[in-house]
Amino acid sequence: MAEPMRLQKFLALCGITSRRAAEEIISSGRVTVNDAVVSTLGIKIDPEQDAVTVDGKPVFLQTQHVYIMLNKPRGYITTVHDEQGRPTVMDLLPAELGRIYPIGRLDYDTEGLLLLTNDGDFTQRLTHPSHEVSKTYLAKVRGVPDDRALKQLRTGVLVDGRKTHPAQVLVKHKNETSTVLAITIHEGRNRQVRKMCNAIGHPVVFLRRIAEGSLRLGDLPVGSFRHLTADEVRTLGGKLHADHKKN
Ligand code: URA
Repeated sequence: MAEPMRLQKFLALCGITSRRAAEEIISSGRVTVNDAVVSTLGIKIDPEQDAVTVDGKPVFLQTQHVYIMLNKPRGYITTVHDEQGRPTVMDLLPAELGRIYPIGRLDYDTEGLLLLTNDGDFTQRLTHPSHEVSKTYLAKVRGVPDDRALKQLRTGVLVDGRKTHPAQVLVKHKNETSTVLAITIHEGRNRQVRKMCNAIGHPVVFLRRIAEGSLRLGDLPVGSFRHLTADEVRTLGGKLHADHKKN
Protein backbone atom coordinates (compact mmCIF):
# COMPACT_ATOMS: atom_id res chain seq x y z
CA MET A 1 0.00 0.00 0.00
CA ALA A 2 1.31 3.46 -0.94
CA GLU A 3 1.35 6.47 1.36
CA PRO A 4 -2.20 7.98 1.50
CA MET A 5 -2.42 11.25 -0.41
CA ARG A 6 -5.02 14.01 -0.55
CA LEU A 7 -7.19 13.72 -3.65
CA GLN A 8 -6.39 17.26 -4.86
CA LYS A 9 -2.66 16.61 -4.57
CA PHE A 10 -3.07 13.36 -6.49
CA LEU A 11 -4.91 15.17 -9.31
CA ALA A 12 -2.17 17.81 -9.49
CA LEU A 13 0.54 15.14 -9.64
CA CYS A 14 -1.40 13.33 -12.37
CA GLY A 15 -1.14 16.48 -14.44
CA ILE A 16 -4.86 17.14 -14.49
CA THR A 17 -4.57 20.68 -13.19
CA SER A 18 -3.05 22.77 -10.42
CA ARG A 19 -3.86 21.88 -6.84
CA ARG A 20 -6.10 24.91 -6.37
CA ALA A 21 -8.11 24.23 -9.53
CA ALA A 22 -8.32 20.54 -8.54
CA GLU A 23 -10.39 21.58 -5.55
CA GLU A 24 -12.95 23.15 -7.88
CA ILE A 25 -13.04 20.06 -10.07
CA ILE A 26 -13.70 17.92 -7.00
CA SER A 27 -16.35 20.28 -5.59
CA SER A 28 -18.18 20.32 -8.89
CA GLY A 29 -18.66 16.54 -8.70
CA ARG A 30 -16.46 15.58 -11.66
CA VAL A 31 -14.26 13.16 -9.72
CA THR A 32 -14.97 9.58 -8.71
CA VAL A 33 -12.97 7.31 -6.41
CA ASN A 34 -13.74 3.61 -6.81
CA ASP A 35 -16.89 4.49 -8.78
CA ALA A 36 -18.33 6.85 -6.15
CA VAL A 37 -18.52 10.59 -6.80
CA VAL A 38 -16.40 12.50 -4.28
CA SER A 39 -17.31 16.18 -4.04
CA THR A 40 -16.00 17.03 -0.59
CA LEU A 41 -12.44 18.18 -0.10
CA GLY A 42 -9.87 16.60 2.14
CA ILE A 43 -10.30 12.89 1.50
CA LYS A 44 -7.15 10.84 1.13
CA ILE A 45 -6.64 8.08 -1.38
CA ASP A 46 -4.13 5.34 -1.95
CA PRO A 47 -2.59 6.27 -5.32
CA GLU A 48 -1.73 2.63 -6.07
CA GLN A 49 -4.97 0.95 -5.03
CA ASP A 50 -7.79 3.44 -5.61
CA ALA A 51 -9.32 3.98 -9.06
CA VAL A 52 -9.81 7.69 -9.74
CA THR A 53 -11.62 9.23 -12.72
CA VAL A 54 -12.17 12.82 -13.88
CA ASP A 55 -15.14 13.33 -16.21
CA GLY A 56 -15.34 9.55 -16.48
CA LYS A 57 -11.72 9.12 -17.63
CA PRO A 58 -9.25 7.18 -15.47
CA VAL A 59 -6.26 9.18 -14.27
CA PHE A 60 -2.87 7.84 -13.25
CA LEU A 61 0.25 9.24 -11.67
CA GLN A 62 2.57 10.55 -14.34
CA THR A 63 6.26 10.53 -13.78
CA GLN A 64 7.41 12.39 -16.90
CA HIS A 65 6.87 16.10 -16.68
CA VAL A 66 6.20 18.08 -19.81
CA TYR A 67 6.87 21.81 -20.20
CA ILE A 68 5.75 23.45 -23.42
CA MET A 69 5.98 26.97 -24.83
CA LEU A 70 3.31 27.78 -27.41
CA ASN A 71 3.05 30.91 -29.54
CA LYS A 72 -0.70 31.27 -29.22
CA PRO A 73 -2.46 32.79 -32.23
CA ARG A 74 -5.42 35.14 -31.91
CA GLY A 75 -8.79 33.42 -32.05
CA TYR A 76 -8.02 30.60 -29.61
CA ILE A 77 -9.16 30.39 -26.03
CA THR A 78 -6.82 29.38 -23.24
CA THR A 79 -8.72 26.47 -21.75
CA VAL A 80 -8.61 22.74 -22.25
CA HIS A 81 -12.25 22.61 -23.30
CA ASP A 82 -14.75 25.28 -24.42
CA GLU A 83 -18.46 24.90 -23.75
CA GLN A 84 -19.22 27.02 -26.82
CA GLY A 85 -17.06 24.87 -29.09
CA ARG A 86 -14.55 27.62 -29.94
CA PRO A 87 -11.01 26.57 -30.88
CA THR A 88 -8.82 26.09 -27.82
CA VAL A 89 -5.04 26.13 -27.50
CA MET A 90 -5.20 22.34 -27.11
CA ASP A 91 -6.19 22.12 -30.79
CA LEU A 92 -2.66 23.31 -31.63
CA LEU A 93 -0.87 20.55 -29.74
CA PRO A 94 -0.44 16.85 -30.57
CA ALA A 95 -2.20 14.29 -28.37
CA GLU A 96 1.17 12.57 -27.70
CA LEU A 97 1.99 15.35 -25.24
CA GLY A 98 -0.58 13.78 -22.92
CA ARG A 99 -2.79 15.64 -20.49
CA ILE A 100 -1.22 19.05 -20.24
CA TYR A 101 -2.97 22.31 -19.48
CA PRO A 102 -2.21 26.03 -19.80
CA ILE A 103 -0.46 27.96 -17.05
CA GLY A 104 -2.46 31.15 -16.67
CA ARG A 105 -4.34 32.76 -19.52
CA LEU A 106 -4.10 34.87 -22.62
CA ASP A 107 -7.25 36.52 -23.98
CA TYR A 108 -8.93 35.13 -27.07
CA ASP A 109 -7.60 38.16 -29.02
CA THR A 110 -4.07 38.09 -27.61
CA GLU A 111 -1.22 36.17 -29.16
CA GLY A 112 2.15 35.10 -27.85
CA LEU A 113 3.95 33.16 -25.17
CA LEU A 114 1.81 30.62 -23.34
CA LEU A 115 3.23 27.86 -21.15
CA LEU A 116 1.57 24.47 -20.74
CA THR A 117 2.55 21.65 -18.42
CA ASN A 118 1.37 18.60 -16.51
CA ASP A 119 3.28 19.69 -13.40
CA GLY A 120 0.80 21.11 -10.90
CA ASP A 121 3.46 22.38 -8.49
CA PHE A 122 5.21 24.23 -11.30
CA THR A 123 1.92 25.87 -12.25
CA GLN A 124 1.30 26.93 -8.70
CA ARG A 125 4.79 28.39 -8.41
CA LEU A 126 4.43 30.42 -11.60
CA THR A 127 0.92 31.69 -10.95
CA HIS A 128 1.05 32.39 -7.23
CA PRO A 129 0.78 36.17 -6.66
CA SER A 130 3.64 36.12 -4.12
CA HIS A 131 6.11 35.17 -6.88
CA GLU A 132 5.20 38.07 -9.14
CA VAL A 133 6.71 36.50 -12.27
CA SER A 134 7.12 39.39 -14.70
CA LYS A 135 5.35 39.32 -18.05
CA THR A 136 6.23 41.50 -21.00
CA TYR A 137 3.78 42.44 -23.75
CA LEU A 138 4.10 44.29 -27.02
CA ALA A 139 0.99 46.44 -27.19
CA LYS A 140 0.10 48.40 -30.30
CA VAL A 141 -2.16 51.19 -29.09
CA ARG A 142 -4.29 53.72 -30.89
CA GLY A 143 -2.77 57.21 -31.06
CA VAL A 144 0.42 58.48 -29.43
CA PRO A 145 0.47 58.55 -25.61
CA ASP A 146 2.20 61.71 -24.32
CA ASP A 147 4.75 61.73 -21.49
CA ARG A 148 2.05 62.24 -18.89
CA ALA A 149 0.09 59.21 -20.09
CA LEU A 150 3.25 57.08 -20.16
CA LYS A 151 4.09 58.16 -16.62
CA GLN A 152 0.58 57.19 -15.49
CA LEU A 153 1.04 53.73 -17.03
CA ARG A 154 4.40 53.37 -15.28
CA THR A 155 3.29 54.50 -11.84
CA GLY A 156 -0.15 52.89 -11.83
CA VAL A 157 -3.63 53.50 -13.22
CA LEU A 158 -7.03 52.60 -11.83
CA VAL A 159 -8.24 49.25 -13.16
CA ASP A 160 -11.52 47.92 -11.80
CA GLY A 161 -11.24 50.35 -8.89
CA ARG A 162 -7.70 49.30 -7.88
CA LYS A 163 -4.42 50.95 -8.81
CA THR A 164 -2.03 48.79 -10.81
CA HIS A 165 1.49 48.16 -9.52
CA PRO A 166 4.41 50.00 -11.13
CA ALA A 167 5.11 48.80 -14.67
CA GLN A 168 8.01 49.26 -17.08
CA VAL A 169 6.92 50.93 -20.29
CA LEU A 170 9.13 51.53 -23.33
CA VAL A 171 8.10 53.17 -26.59
CA LYS A 172 9.27 50.84 -29.37
CA HIS A 173 7.76 52.55 -32.48
CA LYS A 174 5.35 55.31 -33.21
CA ASN A 175 3.69 57.02 -36.17
CA GLU A 176 0.83 59.52 -36.44
CA THR A 177 -1.90 56.98 -35.72
CA SER A 178 -0.44 54.33 -33.44
CA THR A 179 2.34 53.46 -30.99
CA VAL A 180 3.95 50.16 -30.07
CA LEU A 181 4.75 49.89 -26.36
CA ALA A 182 6.70 47.18 -24.51
CA ILE A 183 4.91 46.86 -21.17
CA THR A 184 6.24 44.70 -18.32
CA ILE A 185 3.88 43.96 -15.46
CA HIS A 186 4.21 41.81 -12.37
CA GLU A 187 0.53 41.10 -11.79
CA GLY A 188 -1.90 38.96 -13.71
CA ARG A 189 -5.24 40.68 -13.48
CA ASN A 190 -7.96 39.96 -16.02
CA ARG A 191 -7.30 41.79 -19.33
CA GLN A 192 -4.87 43.94 -17.42
CA VAL A 193 -2.83 45.42 -20.27
CA ARG A 194 -5.93 46.24 -22.31
CA LYS A 195 -7.55 47.88 -19.29
CA MET A 196 -4.37 49.84 -18.44
CA CYS A 197 -4.18 51.22 -21.97
CA ASN A 198 -7.91 52.02 -21.94
CA ALA A 199 -7.37 53.93 -18.70
CA ILE A 200 -4.94 56.33 -20.43
CA GLY A 201 -7.27 56.70 -23.43
CA HIS A 202 -5.16 54.68 -25.89
CA PRO A 203 -6.93 51.37 -26.50
CA VAL A 204 -4.96 48.30 -27.57
CA VAL A 205 -5.37 47.25 -31.18
CA PHE A 206 -2.91 44.35 -31.02
CA LEU A 207 -1.38 42.48 -28.09
CA ARG A 208 1.37 39.88 -27.95
CA ARG A 209 3.11 38.43 -24.87
CA ILE A 210 6.83 38.18 -25.60
CA ALA A 211 8.34 37.17 -22.25
CA GLU A 212 7.44 35.49 -18.99
CA GLY A 213 10.04 35.53 -16.20
CA SER A 214 13.33 34.61 -17.84
CA LEU A 215 11.62 32.99 -20.87
CA ARG A 216 11.52 34.72 -24.25
CA LEU A 217 9.15 33.94 -27.10
CA GLY A 218 11.99 34.64 -29.57
CA ASP A 219 11.28 33.65 -33.15
CA LEU A 220 8.87 30.79 -32.40
CA PRO A 221 6.31 31.06 -35.25
CA VAL A 222 2.68 31.86 -34.41
CA GLY A 223 0.79 28.60 -33.82
CA SER A 224 3.98 26.60 -33.14
CA PHE A 225 5.25 25.09 -29.91
CA ARG A 226 8.51 23.82 -28.46
CA HIS A 227 9.63 21.99 -25.32
CA LEU A 228 11.42 24.14 -22.76
CA THR A 229 15.14 23.43 -22.61
CA ALA A 230 16.70 21.81 -19.54
CA ASP A 231 18.14 25.18 -18.51
CA GLU A 232 14.76 26.87 -18.82
CA VAL A 233 13.07 24.14 -16.77
CA ARG A 234 15.79 24.32 -14.13
CA THR A 235 15.67 28.12 -13.87
CA LEU A 236 11.91 28.11 -13.38
CA GLY A 237 12.06 25.36 -10.78
CA GLY A 238 10.55 22.52 -12.85
CA LYS A 239 11.48 18.86 -12.45
CA LEU A 240 14.13 17.48 -14.76
CA HIS A 241 13.81 13.91 -15.98
CA ALA A 242 16.14 11.60 -17.88
CA ASP A 243 15.44 13.11 -21.33
CA HIS A 244 16.02 16.60 -20.05
CA LYS A 245 19.21 15.69 -18.27
CA LYS A 246 20.68 14.53 -21.59
CA ASN A 247 20.52 18.05 -23.08
N1 URA B 1 -3.38 41.54 -20.53
C1 URA B 1 -4.42 41.57 -21.38
O1 URA B 1 -5.11 42.56 -21.50
N2 URA B 1 -4.67 40.45 -22.10
C2 URA B 1 -3.93 39.34 -22.01
O2 URA B 1 -4.22 38.34 -22.69
C3 URA B 1 -2.85 39.33 -21.12
C4 URA B 1 -2.61 40.45 -20.39
